[in-house]
Amino acid sequence: MLRKKYTMQQSAERMNRIPFSGIRTILEQVNCLEREGTPVIHLEAGHPNFDTPGHIKQAGLGAIDDGQVHYTSNFGILPLREAIARKLKHDNHLDYDSKTEIIVTVGVSEGIMMSMMALLNPGDEVLILEPLFPCYVMAAHMAGAIPVPVPVCAENEYQPARADLEARLSKRTRMLVVTTPGNPTGVVLSESVLRDLADFSIENNLLVMADEIYEKFIYDNRRHISIASLSGMRSRTITLNGFSKSYAMTGWRLGYAAADAQLIQALIRIHQYSVVCTNSFAQWGGVAAIEGPQTCVREMVEEFNRRRLLVIEQLRDIPGISFPRPQGAMYVYVDVSGLNKSAYQLTDDLLEQAHIAVAPWDRRHIRISYSSSYELLQVALERMCQFLRGKPVC
Ligand SMILES: Cc1ncc(COP(=O)(O)O)c(C=O)c1O
Repeated sequence: MLRKKYTMQQSAERMNRIPFSGIRTILEQVNCLEREGTPVIHLEAGHPNFDTPGHIKQAGLGAIDDGQVHYTSNFGILPLREAIARKLKHDNHLDYDSKTEIIVTVGVSEGIMMSMMALLNPGDEVLILEPLFPCYVMAAHMAGAIPVPVPVCAENEYQPARADLEARLSKRTRMLVVTTPGNPTGVVLSESVLRDLADFSIENNLLVMADEIYEKFIYDNRRHISIASLSGMRSRTITLNGFSKSYAMTGWRLGYAAADAQLIQALIRIHQYSVVCTNSFAQWGGVAAIEGPQTCVREMVEEFNRRRLLVIEQLRDIPGISFPRPQGAMYVYVDVSGLNKSAYQLTDDLLEQAHIAVAPWDRRHIRISYSSSYELLQVALERMCQFLRGKPVC
């Protein structure tokens, strides 16, 4: 038998389609500067600067003390699944059976990977509204599927039109990814747009993967609607959500997937054979997060809104840049094409000359995350404005 020859260092072919994460590349540069003793203000990553609320930490610690340190059910502990089911009913008008229709995941990240691995065949196409969160593209590649970006106009404030989707539809289209509020744009999809997306999915028999991780981060009196709650959508939607952002729990690695029992039967097998279950004591922290007081969430979101308004106010009149007013999440997506350099060059210059880290998204855009403290954000914006106006940065 003739065997293909591999070198020891050779990676799988699909890895050729998976670059190293762009934000991580910036973080490496930041680490270098910080090691040399230069403090950098972080506006690149999307992790809230708040600590996890005390009652949640206590629940995690209590679970360790109580000996909750072993494997749990693959689906997650039942009290957490029951809490999630109640939350989905109360907040999202969604009815899921806690025993058969909810899986506790290692963050939404695992939910994304699990959904694509379990539900897509090689060559299936996945429509992803663009600007997009890169994880969807990479997960599709890893599943052997084909990510198909659907460009959405800034002029429409990043609300997709049906024609945008129709233009990218093919015989192989199998899934549509819907993220609201969106990363990187902060768009909150309107009810009529969601209804259009739902009709489009039903007419073309598509699955929908709904990433609702920024659900609580909504401003300007906008309202979050779960696409799975629209008629005809429950059986074809996988709703993903988690604790990272709403409860400042990025390091706990806790999220969940809710879907019709038949879809869950496929998802659980990926989960079983890749992670077995989510960390046992983190799951008890999750119960406290959902069942406990929600004032911590409201206070955090109020503070995020204060920061959002600061960024909008400070950057509004800078020549050469523009951005639609974000209504959700924790980011401002800035078009820098009016400056005489690419977004990549701008990112390098901001880091080297103003000691501010932002995320370059493509040649024309950077993403500013306002997840640093208000005070640091003020300093960063002052420096950024000086830099962009061509003045010396102090
Ligand atoms: C849109 C979106 N989905 C998923 C994730 C991953 O979240 P988690 O920490 O729950 O894995 C992020 C993280 O930034 C995100 O922005």
